[in-house]
Amino acid sequence: MSTSNKIAVYPGTFDPVTYGHIDIVERASKLFDSIIIAVTKSSSKNLLFTSEERLQMIKESTAKLNNVTAECFDGLLVDYTAKKNADVIIRGLRTVSDFEFEYQMALTNRKIGKNISTIFMMPDEKYSYTSSTLVKEIARFNGDISPFVPENIIPLLLNKIKK
Ligand code: COA
Repeated sequence: MSTSNKIAVYPGTFDPVTYGHIDIVERASKLFDSIIIAVTKSSSKNLLFTSEERLQMIKESTAKLNNVTAECFDGLLVDYTAKKNADVIIRGLRTVSDFEFEYQMALTNRKIGKNISTIFMMPDEKYSYTSSTLVKEIARFNGDISPFVPENIIPLLLNKIKK
């Protein structure tokens, strides 16, 4: 790929997107020419939102960032990354407990996707304990989720949980 146009892929489930994810996208958007947020269609997780809903939420939440786009993907992440002419995968590292799984994924992706490297970024420490699962649990029990997700996500999440 051309070194003048550095593209990075930021993959995840984003069920739903949180301020922690947005923090990583903002940081990455300053380091790369363009960032493609890749929303996985399939997941072993018990998902609340469809892939199209997850995509729409993250698109709205990052709309102000000019060099960021988002789309859904299926299949192997390294194949998707190569198809997009990117050679970097961005992952957020929140705490030491993230490390083991991320390490395994990064090395596996490097093995199967030869020229693709993973770069880890740390979100602001105020998001270091945020996870989509916890946000959904707080919402289910009528807790305040406003510290964790953008305003536009709150009604969508509350509606979904009521169903
Ligand atoms: N701030 C807040 N929370 C964050 C975060 C951040 N910066 N970064 C991650 N998280 C949380 C997420 O909310 C999520 O929480 P949850 O488990 O409660 O839902 C958790 O950390 C991890 O989620 P995410 O970052 O979305 O990653 P994932 O592990 O769900 O997704 C894929 C992993 C999509 C990258 C992976 O499954 C994949 O590559 N799939 C394609 C198939 C493939 O290639 N497999 C081979 C891989 S070696």
